[in-house]
Amino acid sequence: MPPINSESSFVFLDELKQSTLEELYDKVMDLYDKDSISKEELKKFSDAITMVNQVFLKQEKANFIVRQATLADVDSLMEMIEYWAKKGQNLPRKRNDIIRGIQTFAVCVKDSQVVGCACLYVYDSGLAEIRSLGVSPVVQRQGQGRAIVNYLLKRASKMFIERVFVLTRSPEFFSKVGFQKTVIEALPEKILKDCENCPKREQCDEVAYIFNMKDHK
Ligand SMILES: CC(C)(COP(=O)(O)OP(=O)(O)OC[C@H]1O[C@@H](n2cnc3c(N)ncnc32)[C@H](O)[C@@H]1OP(=O)(O)O)[C@@H](O)C(=O)NCCC(=O)NCCS
Repeated sequence: MPPINSESSFVFLDELKQSTLEELYDKVMDLYDKDSISKEELKKFSDAITMVNQVFLKQEKANFIVRQATLADVDSLMEMIEYWAKKGQNLPRKRNDIIRGIQTFAVCVKDSQVVGCACLYVYDSGLAEIRSLGVSPVVQRQGQGRAIVNYLLKRASKMFIERVFVLTRSPEFFSKVGFQKTVIEALPEKILKDCENCPKREQCDEVAYIFNMKDHK
């Protein structure tokens, strides 16, 4: 195996990508045996491998994954969003709007089918909103909603977004997944963008919930 800092480290990385977790562990041990990495680095690597393994095991058990949406998901996204929009739980979205914003969407996939989705909309101020969250009625209460929200919160955290909010008619769910109740007046960005033109603004039946990253570090 080449030393990790040599010019061939890209070849080495390619080789690593093909490996199983067990093979990765063996390679890291090999590096340690050759004094190429320190004991602390060995611990960091093996902790990371253990963590990845736990995530895989959890997903295997749950039998679904959450991933970035692609253009191949547009029909499924349309279907899911229309379904919940007709029930008055979400706002309808136009197909071209979904396509343009595809990078903001995440999908939950089970047995090769999209069973849930949501997107993360970022405002000029850096505040973000979870929109279009919906899980197929066939698989409700099996953890998909939580997994999608967690995926988007992780994405937000990687972008250094400090607060993520939602306007919802499912307050119990959002309080279960770590959001705190707030008031719409605390979200001037949302009021300016959507509420001011909303026909329901005088009798809004949605509740605002917010997730502050700093409370979860
Ligand atoms: C809200 C919604 C996304 C939840 O998805 P889900 O996959 O059923 O939720 P999960 O299984 O991940 O639930 C996570 C937790 O919230 C709880 N929960 C979920 N929906 C709930 C509800 N309506 N009332 C009370 N608790 C609820 C679950 O019991 C679970 O609690 P636990 O951790 O104690 O087990 C889903 O019901 C849905 O698509 N609703 C219609 C669309 C909608 O309201 N979208 C939100 C618009 S902002």
